[in-house]
Amino acid sequence: MENNHISITFLKRKIFTILMFDNQIAIITGGSSGIGKGIAEKLSSMGAKVILVARTEDKLIKAVEDIKRKGGIAEYRIGDATTPGDIEKIIDEIYNNEKRLDIFVNNAGIFKFSDIYTDYKDITEMIDTDMIAPGRILHYIVNKFSDTNKEIKILNTLSHATFRIMSGNIGYGTAKEALFRISLQLEKDLKEKNIKNIKIYRIYPSSVATPQLLEMYKKGLVEAPTTLESVVNEAIDLLADKTPSRDSFVGYIPNKGIVAAYYYINFNTTYNNPNVLNFLSEKIIDDKYKP
Ligand SMILES: NC(=O)c1ccc[n+]([C@@H]2O[C@H](COP(=O)([O-])OP(=O)(O)OC[C@H]3O[C@@H](n4cnc5c(N)ncnc54)[C@H](OP(=O)(O)O)[C@@H]3O)[C@@H](O)[C@H]2O)c1
Repeated sequence: MENNHISITFLKRKIFTILMFDNQIAIITGGSSGIGKGIAEKLSSMGAKVILVARTEDKLIKAVEDIKRKGGIAEYRIGDATTPGDIEKIIDEIYNNEKRLDIFVNNAGIFKFSDIYTDYKDITEMIDTDMIAPGRILHYIVNKFSDTNKEIKILNTLSHATFRIMSGNIGYGTAKEALFRISLQLEKDLKEKNIKNIKIYRIYPSSVATPQLLEMYKKGLVEAPTTLESVVNEAIDLLADKTPSRDSFVGYIPNKGIVAAYYYINFNTTYNNPNVLNFLSEKIIDDKYKP
């Protein structure tokens, strides 16, 4: 009898997890490839309708087809995050048609190794794509939804380069750290104005085993990568409010395996306690993983 009860509870929990994002609308920038595509696939497998946004149409078509083949609901829109108004128009159109927007994954980004020999225009390109563009989009959404009562979750794909001064990161690390800062300024504003319907999340992956990063790892340009699956699962846990905080690192740590770590934000820093991002706890995801 007790066993039956346990299995029914287990089943209910399983169904709830599977349908956790049922009928929700999610826009994912950079949804045609890598982390964005992985998050889109997982959200759609859990019931969300996903709208993938990127610049290259054939990659978008392929990603939407992959999701539909697995039974998901997906559409795409072509948009360049660095063109002011492009993504904003898509957000307006989707919100007007669907009458809701539950999740926005602010994920589109580029990475190029940059050091003292890099042409500064490549550094500027990263600042534009990884900071100015997602910062502008984040500000737009927070502004747009601030006088509605509709809950919206915004997940920002940052990087461990946000809080680590790493080689080759003059452009990328700087851009991610500044995006982190914009997101916190907006969060502070939301708190001060007592606006509770907008929830901002940040994920800080280490290098991830996407094709570009695997190539760079082989050349010794980046650290050992974690799996795409680990990052996607962590992103979903954040959006499902299953994590100890809304700030989560996921990555490969030598001698530990794949690890998730959680941080709390100190909004009351002082001259002798200047740390904004503070370690909270960690969880071993896979201690057997070898890159
Ligand atoms: N891979 C890693 O190791 C790693 C680690 C930490 C954080 N991240 C972050 O995770 C995010 C995704 O990275 P990823 O490795 O999954 O990248 P990816 O596989 O190269 O995919 C990037 C996606 O963003 C789109 N995109 C790029 N520039 C865009 C623009 N200006 N406007 C609209 N879409 C644009 C790309 O499509 P189009 O080119 O067709 O537009 C593509 O869909 C980035 O923010 C990255 O910084 C990655």
